[in-house]
Amino acid sequence: MMLHIPEVLSQGELDRVRALIEAGPWVDGNETSGFQSALAKDNLQLAEGSAPALEAGALIAAAVGRHPLFVAGALPASVFPPMFNRYGPGKKFDSHVDNAIRINRTGQRLRADLSATLFLSAPDDYEGGELTVDDTFGVHQVKLAAGDLILYPSSSLHRVEPIIRGQRTSAILWIQSLVRDDAKRTLLFDMDMAIQNAGARLGQDDPAVISLTGGYHNLLRMWAEL
Ligand code: NI
Repeated sequence: MMLHIPEVLSQGELDRVRALIEAGPWVDGNETSGFQSALAKDNLQLAEGSAPALEAGALIAAAVGRHPLFVAGALPASVFPPMFNRYGPGKKFDSHVDNAIRINRTGQRLRADLSATLFLSAPDDYEGGELTVDDTFGVHQVKLAAGDLILYPSSSLHRVEPIIRGQRTSAILWIQSLVRDDAKRTLLFDMDMAIQNAGARLGQDDPAVISLTGGYHNLLRMWAEL
């Protein structure tokens, strides 16, 4: 499932993140790549562990953690500290699948079930630079408003199209989900949305809503890995 999550950052938070990361330090994006992605990647990255990366990353991690749609769609067990990418004219990231396992600076390991791109540049600030994701339902091209996020399975082939004009800056997150299987997680999300819809119309104390809510939690209990 691909899920568009609007307004993850408020305008104030977006301004703060942009101000923090603007001056860098920006380094070659290949410093953190595996072998295959080093061939594919051609961009800049905010130096991992630098003060701006840590402060802006903490702000973003807090923002996604309190966004109900992100929590419902990702069912996050843990979120890898956000990384920041920047693409200028001619820069791109060819087709690749994200690494399965991420190891953070403290040695903590995370299985990447979901990848997320948080757009920090407004769509008008650049031409090209779409995030293109291939999934079982076809090819999706994504370019969102600044502050919006797209969530997609880390197992999907994806790329960033070459930038024709301007500059595209984004934050990238990897999420280990309580439910690693995308089909099961998607089913839970659809059920969650339907239950909320039914609850709003019938009332939270309607017997059918109570029964469906129980079904949701019992499926989550069956499938969740802590
Ligand atoms: Ni990627």
